[in-house]
Amino acid sequence: MENRYKAIVNQKEVETHELRECLDHEVLVKILKVPINPIDHFKINAPPEALQSLPPCPGIGFDAVGVIVDSGKNVDTSLENKRVAVYQTFFDPGYSGTWRQYLYCKPEEVYVLPSEIDDESECYFMGNPLATYGLYIQSEKHNAKAIIQNAACSSVGKMLIRLCKKNGIPVINIVRSEFQEKCLKELGADNIFNSTSDTFIDDISETITTLGANVFIECVGDKSIKQIMNVMPLGSTVLFYGTLQPESLDISSPDILFTMKTLTYFSTPGWLQSLTLEEKQRITEDIMKDFTEGAKVYGCKVAKSYPLSDLELALEEYPKYRSEGKLVISMQEKDLIDLKASIY
Ligand SMILES: NC(=O)c1ccc[n+]([C@@H]2O[C@H](COP(=O)([O-])OP(=O)(O)OC[C@H]3O[C@@H](n4cnc5c(N)ncnc54)[C@H](OP(=O)(O)O)[C@@H]3O)[C@@H](O)[C@H]2O)c1
Repeated sequence: MENRYKAIVNQKEVETHELRECLDHEVLVKILKVPINPIDHFKINAPPEALQSLPPCPGIGFDAVGVIVDSGKNVDTSLENKRVAVYQTFFDPGYSGTWRQYLYCKPEEVYVLPSEIDDESECYFMGNPLATYGLYIQSEKHNAKAIIQNAACSSVGKMLIRLCKKNGIPVINIVRSEFQEKCLKELGADNIFNSTSDTFIDDISETITTLGANVFIECVGDKSIKQIMNVMPLGSTVLFYGTLQPESLDISSPDILFTMKTLTYFSTPGWLQSLTLEEKQRITEDIMKDFTEGAKVYGCKVAKSYPLSDLELALEEYPKYRSEGKLVISMQEKDLIDLKASIY
């Protein structure tokens, strides 16, 4: 095994680290692939002042797929050589970011992948499946009759469409291009509305009323939230879970008080922390079962795959291809490009 490896430690720097012995309750994962998620792209490209609301932490990336190559003395040795999905967030103590060639993490942060899956055309990262599962559970808790979601052609959006279809919950999907409309139609989605249409609010309002859509799963953060909230039934809920384009919302207290509407949030790390070990195990098993059965709900296409030497290109092309599927970087290459020199 190599003794030294490279890691992207913050938005600009690549560091070289030495491999060491695992601590007692630790595994060492040789990282094979990482996806570019919106938060990664944001963290790399945002000016420092925009990062102030994030917890201060080094590292980029929550997700990865890799192989366990070493483990500490308190860890079940049967994990060694297993292919795993890693999910580690910056709320987890010891978070170091998955965009690195080797990662020391806790055994609880790895999920053994079924051996029979082929990971060339589909991604088997855990972040988006867990988020989708959690969003669905939260929607159920808010008695969702029908769900509205924006950025519906995202990976989470597509998973949610398939999960809701399986469970018989109608979804009203907001997209922003004809290409996305086409993708969702091919996926079998109903109720697709393009926010760039002049009649968008009128059209979607009618369907919201007809279906009684009372939960809005929201990841953009723009001004259309208020317009949509206004037509949702009394007692509806908006679940914020992303910040693709945050703006001031212009929502006043009567908008909430007199309509008994709730604005709240969903965060996968917070949700996972609220679960018992058994609940977490059951959820993970459900997701793994789906992966084994052809990833009909939690599968996500690889839109483009890049060697590490093309990291700069991958980051540049991410906005162009993200609605097609995940952009994936293969981490095991001899030399990491120098992000500092090439991006900034
Ligand atoms: N709270 C949590 O725990 C949690 C966990 C996972 C993900 N998330 C959030 O879930 C969202 C989707 O993540 P993902 O990984 O599924 O994304 P993704 O696959 O990378 O896709 C991003 C999608 O968002 C669309 N988009 C970007 N900016 C937009 C804007 N300003 N208005 C409308 N659409 C926009 C893109 O459309 P274009 O192609 O038109 O740009 C694309 O379809 C993100 O906000 C992410 O942060 C939250």
